[in-house]
Amino acid sequence: MIRQATAQAHPNIAFIKYWGNRDERLRLPANPSFSMNLGALRTIARVTFLEEEGPDALVLNGVSVEGPARDRVEAFLDHVRRMAGHRGRAVVESQTDIPTGVGLASSAAAFAALAVAAAAALDLPLSERELSILARLGSGSACRSVPPGFVEWVVGERHEDSYAYSVAPPEHWALWDVIAVVSEQPKAVGSSEGHRRAATSPLHPFRVATAPERVARCREAVLRRDFDALAEIVETDAIWMHAVMMTSRPPLFYWEPATIAVLLAVRRWREEGLPVAFTLDAGPNVHLLCPAEAADAVARRLEGVPGVRRVLRSGPGGGAQRVSNGGTDRVGIGRIHPEIQVEQR
Ligand code: PMV
Repeated sequence: MIRQATAQAHPNIAFIKYWGNRDERLRLPANPSFSMNLGALRTIARVTFLEEEGPDALVLNGVSVEGPARDRVEAFLDHVRRMAGHRGRAVVESQTDIPTGVGLASSAAAFAALAVAAAAALDLPLSERELSILARLGSGSACRSVPPGFVEWVVGERHEDSYAYSVAPPEHWALWDVIAVVSEQPKAVGSSEGHRRAATSPLHPFRVATAPERVARCREAVLRRDFDALAEIVETDAIWMHAVMMTSRPPLFYWEPATIAVLLAVRRWREEGLPVAFTLDAGPNVHLLCPAEAADAVARRLEGVPGVRRVLRSGPGGGAQRVSNGGTDRVGIGRIHPEIQVEQR
C-alpha cells in the first residue's frame, strides 16, 4: 500500500537567535529563541512511503538530490518510521519558492513541512507540540516553523520537552521583514558547523546565560506591539550572536562591507524617525523589521544603499499544515509565489 501526504510550511526569522546546541544529535538548543513565520515564502513537501525497503529518494524543485542533503532527510525519516513501525522507503518531493542564497534558513520550512507530511502519511496522530519536537530533529529552527505566527522555542530538559509554541497568531501584529540581499553566494560554513563552534567562543556562556531574559523582553514587546522595545532587544541579540561567531575558533565572519553599510543606515533612519530594526542570521544579508506602514519607505531607502542587490519582503505567516495532494499543483510550486514581492535591481 502506498501512503502519501503533502504539507506546507513557511520559513521563520529569529528575533532572539538559536546558536549552539547542548545536545547536537537531538538538536537540544543552548538557549531559548523567538521568531516570526514569514507568510510570503513557503516550502511544500510530498512524502510517499512505499512497502519496499531501501534508500529514500529526495527530489528538490524537480531535481533528484544525492549526498548529505538526502542522507539528512533519510536520517530524519528514520525517526518517523521508528515511531510508526514502518520499514518501507520513502520518496520526498519538495518544492520551495524561497530563493536560494538569500540567507533564509530554508531547512526550517523544509523540515517543518516534512514532519507534518511524513506523520500524516503514516497516520501518526501527533499534536502541534509533538510535530514541533519531531521537526526539531531535522533542523533546530524547523521546530519554530510548525506553530503559527510569533513563536517561542522553549529549551526544555530532554527531547520530549524542547518544542516551540505560538505566543501570538499572525494577525496579532502587521510586522514586516524587509530583506536586504547583499550576497547570493552559498555560505562557506553552514549552521550545523556553526552551532558546533559556538562553545569555543569565550562570549558564548554569557550570551546563553542572558538569553532567557532577552526572550522574555522580546515576548513582552511583541505582546504589547511595542516596536521600540522590540528593536532594541532584537538588534542586541543579533550583534551578540555575531560576536560569538567572530570569537569562535576558528572564527566565523559572515558580514560583508554592504552588511555594515545597511546596519549603519538602519541606525540613521531610526534616528530620523523611521521605525526599523535589523537582524541577521548566519549570513551577510540583513533582515529589516518594521511595522507594515513603514515597509515601502524601508524598501525604497534600501534601494539607495550601495551593495544591496535586491529586496524581498514578507509579513507574518501561519503554521505548518497539511494540504491536499493536489494542492501542489494549485499553488504552482516551482514558480515564485505571487504573494512574494521581489524587487529586482
Ligand atoms: O536550524 P539551523 O541549524 O539552521 O540554525 C539556525 C540558526 C540561525 O538562523 C542563525 C538562528 C535562528 O535562530 O534561526
